[in-house]
Amino acid sequence: MNDCYNKKTWWKESVFYQIYPLSFLDTTNTGKGDIKGIIKKIPYLEELGIGAIWISPIYTSPMFDNGYDISDYNSINPLFGTMEDFIKLIKTCRKANIKIIMDLVINHTSSEHPWFKKSCENSNNSKSDYYLWHDAKNGKEPNNWAADFGGSAWTWNESRQQYYLHLFSKHQPDLNWHNPNVKKEIFSSIKKWLELGVNGFRMDMGNFLFKAKGYPDAPHNKNDLRKFIHGENLYANQPGIHNLLHELKEELLEPYDAMLFGEMYFLTPKSSLDYTSCKKHEVDLIYQYPIMDARGDWNKVKKHIRNYANAFQDKAWNTTTFSNHDSPRSVSIYGDTSNYHKESAKCIMTFLLTSPGTPFFLQGEEIGMTNTSVSDANELTDIKMKGVYNDRISRGENPDMVLKDLSWWNRDNARTPMQWSDKKYAGFSVVNPWLKVNPNYTDINVEKQQNNPNSILNYTKKLINLRNSTETLIYGTFRVLCPDDWTVYGFSRKLNDEEYIIVFNFSSNDNNIQAFQEIKNNSSTLILSNYSVEYDVIDILYMKPWETRIYKVKKHGEL
Ligand code: GLC
Repeated sequence: MNDCYNKKTWWKESVFYQIYPLSFLDTTNTGKGDIKGIIKKIPYLEELGIGAIWISPIYTSPMFDNGYDISDYNSINPLFGTMEDFIKLIKTCRKANIKIIMDLVINHTSSEHPWFKKSCENSNNSKSDYYLWHDAKNGKEPNNWAADFGGSAWTWNESRQQYYLHLFSKHQPDLNWHNPNVKKEIFSSIKKWLELGVNGFRMDMGNFLFKAKGYPDAPHNKNDLRKFIHGENLYANQPGIHNLLHELKEELLEPYDAMLFGEMYFLTPKSSLDYTSCKKHEVDLIYQYPIMDARGDWNKVKKHIRNYANAFQDKAWNTTTFSNHDSPRSVSIYGDTSNYHKESAKCIMTFLLTSPGTPFFLQGEEIGMTNTSVSDANELTDIKMKGVYNDRISRGENPDMVLKDLSWWNRDNARTPMQWSDKKYAGFSVVNPWLKVNPNYTDINVEKQQNNPNSILNYTKKLINLRNSTETLIYGTFRVLCPDDWTVYGFSRKLNDEEYIIVFNFSSNDNNIQAFQEIKNNSSTLILSNYSVEYDVIDILYMKPWETRIYKVKKHGEL
């Protein structure tokens, strides 16, 4: 066994909660959330059992991409508050024993960053080489790369008489990580936040920082909406990235016991190990996208969990997640919001909190917040969705169909204001919020669920407490008990002589669980379920829609 793998650490043990600050709680009547709002809700998160919060970017930004376009790495966006507020947040979190993770968006800056403004001036100043500039090729863009947010990945700059690269929008120019000064300046900002007491970072586009030499054409053209599909040969996992991440982790983060988790694409379970095996010491965790990309297909999720568990065994630590600020709401895509909202939301949470690896979920998942709907293109607020919508319309697609299709993948689904109560604007704000509150807030909200012992919120709290107090559910081995294509599913988590068996019915029909002989043979105690069951578990061979149960296997001789 690998010793570094077995090391116990806080980021393996904590349940991570993502805060999208713009939509969490508005305390200043701007219709936008703020840092004081986060401070106010720390007791709520503490009671829920949350061990760490990841806050989407709160640095100074013109907010073209809601903060994922930073114009100053050293300051707090006045929209969210002040540095004093942030320091107070750190102190409040510390008292509540909650770690605090910031977003680190360093693949690109905002086009309003002073570095970029200076870089645009000419090609021989101190910042000229901070970005990826290129001459026109036959009077056109240097290659056919498409930007993730629509159009070409290159924009012409008049004063510089060159194109600059932006993998996202033209407001997000990509940095030149070959320039040692870029690294120096960004590393020094990172150090400042660590000195303030931040416990780590979520690294945006963590494996995209270097681009393929010579900018080869992609095997598709820029009108191909599949965009990032060939990224593995163009901008993901390019030479230089491993050294950089290693240096970041080893020299900068390690002395502070700070963790790094990377948003990474174009990886297999095996190639993920190049970044995250504990021996490599680059990123501690990779934020797992395959689950979110499985688009509601449980068989894919199960296959993914199995593959990663096998590849990572004794080598690297995993993560599990169904949702973040870019994805649909988990219960809308993996559950049944029409007939079994409560049951399916609890079932998903059980899977999340008992699977191997560190669990992450987005604000609102603990009450089963759902996708919203968009009936008019003018309601789209997100830069990506607007770009993709315009691209598709310009290709002659039917606007209603595009809108219908996008409504599932609309990033606003995850960003609607947090539903705290049934008061106007869901208790998020007293003024009209920046993004329309999901109309179901009168039914789905924190206050209502706090008062109901059977709510998703109270179930989630029980689950988190169980995980927090059960080493086996954190460090235990993982063994799948049935084929991935069954509708019922089950796995075991085992540590020394303690074992838990968790079973699920991922469907809106009753299902047979006769197959799980282990529960019968071993004689087990039911610890938690999303249905109130008072029967003798041994005789029950079927599961109700979206039912899930956690059993503790009795030790030999135990009654
Ligand atoms: C990441 C973020 C996303 C952002 C993009 C560009 O994917 O999660 O919200 O738009 O990077 O920074």
